Formats: sequence, C-alpha cells, structure tokens
Amino acid sequence: MAWLARDVAHEFDGSSMSAPTRPALLDAVVGRFRGEFGGAAPRCFFAPGRINLVGAHLDYNGGDVLPMAVDRGIYAAAAARPDGLLRLRSLDQQLAVDLDVAAVGRRMRSEWGWAAYPIGVWHGFQQRTGVTKGFDVVFGGDVPMASGLSSSAAIEVVTALALDALHGTRLDRQQLALIAHRAETGFVGVRCGIMDQFASALGRAGQVLLLRCAGPRWEHVPFDPQACEVLVMDTKKPRHLAKSGFNERVAQCATAHEILRTHVRDLPHLASYSFAELESSREAMDEVSFRRARHVVTEMERTAFAVAALRRHDYATLGAQLDASHRSTAVDFDVSCDELDVITDAARACDGVFGARLTGAGFGGCAIALLRPGSSASVGRRVGEAFTARFGLQPAFDVLRIGSGPGEIA
Ligand code: GLA
Repeated sequence: MAWLARDVAHEFDGSSMSAPTRPALLDAVVGRFRGEFGGAAPRCFFAPGRINLVGAHLDYNGGDVLPMAVDRGIYAAAAARPDGLLRLRSLDQQLAVDLDVAAVGRRMRSEWGWAAYPIGVWHGFQQRTGVTKGFDVVFGGDVPMASGLSSSAAIEVVTALALDALHGTRLDRQQLALIAHRAETGFVGVRCGIMDQFASALGRAGQVLLLRCAGPRWEHVPFDPQACEVLVMDTKKPRHLAKSGFNERVAQCATAHEILRTHVRDLPHLASYSFAELESSREAMDEVSFRRARHVVTEMERTAFAVAALRRHDYATLGAQLDASHRSTAVDFDVSCDELDVITDAARACDGVFGARLTGAGFGGCAIALLRPGSSASVGRRVGEAFTARFGLQPAFDVLRIGSGPGEIA
C-alpha cells in the first residue's frame, strides 16, 4: 500500500497531503477488514481530530473559533454493499454492530454504542443523497477517545468521506461536515456547534481554520511550526460531565441570549453582542447567565486578537489569549477542573511556553500549551512532576502537528 493520500472531494484545492502518521494502524484496519469481511480490497480514508486554539464554547453561540486539524485521527477501511446491511467494527471497541438499514430510525439506539456515530452519518447521507445501500467498515484511530480532541467528529467525517467516495456522490466538504454535525446533534443528541466537524472536514496542511460559525464562513490562516509547537497535555481525567454539563451550558447561553434580546436588541446570536451591551443589561440578568454571556462576549475579542497575532507571527500574544481564555472558561463558564487548572498553571510557569488552556468542552480530558520548538521535553517533565506531586497521577504529553486534512489514502 502506498501512503499517498488523495482527496475525494471535487473541490480539492491541490494542497499537498502527507502520509498517514501511523501506517501500521492503517495496515491493522485493512487486515481486520479482510479477516472480518473477506472480498475485494477495501478503500481507505482518514479524517483528523482537532484542537481549538481559542474560541471556547463559541460555535453554538454563533461566534468565531480557531481550530487546527491535527495529524491524528480516525482511519476507515470501507466497501459498499449491494444490499442494505451495515456492518461496523472498530479496532479499539469490542462491540461489533450488524444491522439492516431498515432498522435505522431518526435517533440512535443505545445498544449501538460507539457505532451510533457512523450509523447517524449513514442516516444523514441517505437523507441527503437517497442512497439506501449498506456498507462494511472497520475503524481504527490514534486520537484518544473522550479527551477533547474530537474523536467523534473524526469518525463522523471519515464515514461521510467514505460514503461519498464509495457512491460517487461528490458532495463538497461543507456538505460532508454538515451531515457529520447532524449525526452528532440530531441522531446522537449532543447539542454541539459545528466547529469539530468543520475543523476535521476542512483541515489543510500548515493552516488553522478561522471559522465564523454564524455564516458559516471560513478562511485558513498559516501557522508556523518553526516558531510554535502545540503540546497536548492529557490529564487522563475522564470527562464524566461532558455530555450533561455541555448541554447545560448550551441551555444557559440560550437563556442569556433571550434576556439580551429582550433588554438590549434582537441579534441572532449571543456572540454578536458587545461588552457594553452586556454590561447595560446586568441588572436584568441572573448571575449565572451574566457570567456565561461574559465569557462568550469576551472570548470573541480574544479570538480576534489571536487571529491578528497569528497573522503577524506573534506567538507570545497568541499565547496570552490562550491564558486569558482558560481563565474565562474556568471562572465564567465553569468548565475547568482542578486537574486542568493545575496542568495549565504548571505549563505557564515553564520557560518557552507562550500560553496554555483547556481544549474541547472541558470538564476533564486535555489541555494544550503553545511552546517554542525544542522545549517540549523539558516542559513535559516539569509539568508532569507538578501534576504528579498534586494528584499522584502521571499525565500524558504529546506534540501534535497540523495534519494535512481528510482524504482517501490511495
Ligand atoms: C465540544 C463541542 C464543540 C465546541 C467545544 C467547545 O468540543 O463538540 O462543538 O462547542 O466543545 O468549544
């Protein structure tokens, strides 16, 4: 197998796609496919996970976010079937799911476990294109599950890419991202915004994505790996609250928005209000609504500062936005925890660190630190010592790079 990725969407812009980071993983996915299903060789696909530099909890508030598709993600070996059977396997999960497409309704069933995500994508793809045939698929990934790096968006996007390629439907990247997003919200029931699926589907080598979720509109902004590295720091704290706490934050933001619409003016998104407008309605707001809205409104400013800093290669100012973002998500949005606070504080105390913050929804999982290249080993050692001294547990560290985006592996 040659490790040359080729894009499957017709809008491909010609940017080069590097080899998958883990050829052995792809071999394992293909080997399992052959062992399970036999038949002709499957086609292989990859979609990345993501980290979000700044713009925490802004996507479902119509704000601007700055994610980066990383060089880790989910691989899929897949083949179309002539009948209506769906057969789904994963290298990391015991549960194997076989079902007839006739059994797929509008919502997930709990017995499908992890497979609810790709089944939801199949459902959305079928609704969009009218294709009713089933498929066989094996997934394998090198992005840790439930850690804040968006393994769920990666599995959704890789499934959408695979279905599009297998059936020659030629949907563009935005359409694939929307099908993937719908699987997570409509089918699985997490009220997330569009960031994760768009970051995965629109990922591009050497660039981060400035996604204005209100449109959505987007552009890519260069990120210089010679000037700055991204260290992921995994607290290994499971994100138990992630689903319930996340949906609660979405509801709290909706409440804050409603109050602002009534008391200030009728804007379509919470992220559209200015700080002055928020201040003017302080009396009308309960304390929780006010803090949630303050995070959203000030995070919009931080994202704008971060983008300006990135454009002029000012990684120190970019890092300062991450620090401020972490404080705001901790104090106003209440999605941090001791582990994330300690690990980001410890990182900030190290030489060579531009800034640090939690990534993803929060409540546990991973934080990121931006570093001067060459400092990851010493930062990992010092942060690891501080974390272990406090919690008696060893966190994990990894330098993530911008990946080359999703595509078919030819
Ligand atoms: C999760 C959601 C995203 C986004 C982030 C917080 O990752 O899936 O849509 O809201 O949290 O920024």
